[in-house]
Amino acid sequence: RINAVITGIGGYVPDYVLNNEELSRMVDTNDEWIMTRVGIKERRILTEEGLGTSYMARKAAKQLLRKTGVDPDTIDALILSTSTADYQFPSTASIVLGKLGLRNAFAFDLWGACCGFLYALDVAANMIQSGRHKKIIVIGADKMSSVVDYKDRSTCALFGDGAAAVLLEATTEQNIGVMDSYFRTDGKGLPFLHTKAGGSVCPASHFSVDHRLHYLFQEGRTVFRYAVTNMSDDCALIAERNNLDKTNIAYVVPHQANMRIIEAVAKRLDLPMENVMVNIEHYGNTSAATIPLALWDNEKNLKKGDNLIFTAFGAGFVHGASYYKW
Ligand code: ACO
Repeated sequence: RINAVITGIGGYVPDYVLNNEELSRMVDTNDEWIMTRVGIKERRILTEEGLGTSYMARKAAKQLLRKTGVDPDTIDALILSTSTADYQFPSTASIVLGKLGLRNAFAFDLWGACCGFLYALDVAANMIQSGRHKKIIVIGADKMSSVVDYKDRSTCALFGDGAAAVLLEATTEQNIGVMDSYFRTDGKGLPFLHTKAGGSVCPASHFSVDHRLHYLFQEGRTVFRYAVTNMSDDCALIAERNNLDKTNIAYVVPHQANMRIIEAVAKRLDLPMENVMVNIEHYGNTSAATIPLALWDNEKNLKKGDNLIFTAFGAGFVHGASYYKW
């Protein structure tokens, strides 16, 4: 059996730090509310005009290529997951591929909201396990500041910008890499989490701009309930069918949307918080980028053979968990 393993991680977050203090001068909010309800202290924002998601994705992938020393000509594919593409078309992945100078690869965007990196990792793993591809770059990148309304206190504190990339490679070593996954999409999510305009149903117009319809809308309480239930259940299912429990799970790597959601997942698995990767305090919710950014931040703590559970939930609703052996 051919297995798919992560052989390197690259990451990028913009320099600009938007902290709760600055945010509280923009909308009626405060550090205490944001820290107790969500657990975010600051987030990074890509403020330079004319730069989008591909800029951050390219930075993360460049670092990945440098760190691994892989020959760009040997990369077979690049899969980029984002909900904040540079343009309606072409794909952001094609822009990143061009900037990286990958000459023997094909590239596509994969839309899976906050679960997108996990979907992309699974697709890439299957492409490798088929034997047809050997090296795939998988990127999660989002410029959430481009869809967040900084006049809406119920959403503007939650999100940040960032990107991270992993190199997934074929190996004949057994019992390693992407081991198992469980994903579901629950089509009931649309009313609770969406942008109303800018797509084919309601293309950009003066009306849509005047009515601020291009911004992310979220009914937070409902999304919160679904996120806690689904991420906890998905982790429990993946753990059970792979004989994983608190005695042999090294880390759970959850999507970083709300500290209370993360704590609920840990509680369900009966795991202490030191076995949960958390960086929400510094980056907020970077959508498709949260899980690879958490890996990037914690790479030095990972040891060969560590059992990891990844889990995410997002717009759609999309949700799931996967089992990765480091
Ligand atoms: N500062 C101060 N007060 C606020 C703020 C703020 N930033 N935001 C909301 N409030 C107020 C509300 O107006 C409300 O006031 P009211 O009672 O007078 O009406 C009160 O706080 C409570 O609001 P809730 O929305 O009920 O607060 P809740 O405890 O649910 O927290 C939150 C809101 C943080 C959004 C939470 O519901 C949540 O995390 N939801 C899930 C987010 C998520 O997981 N998203 C999925 C991924 S995102 C993606 O896919 C792109």
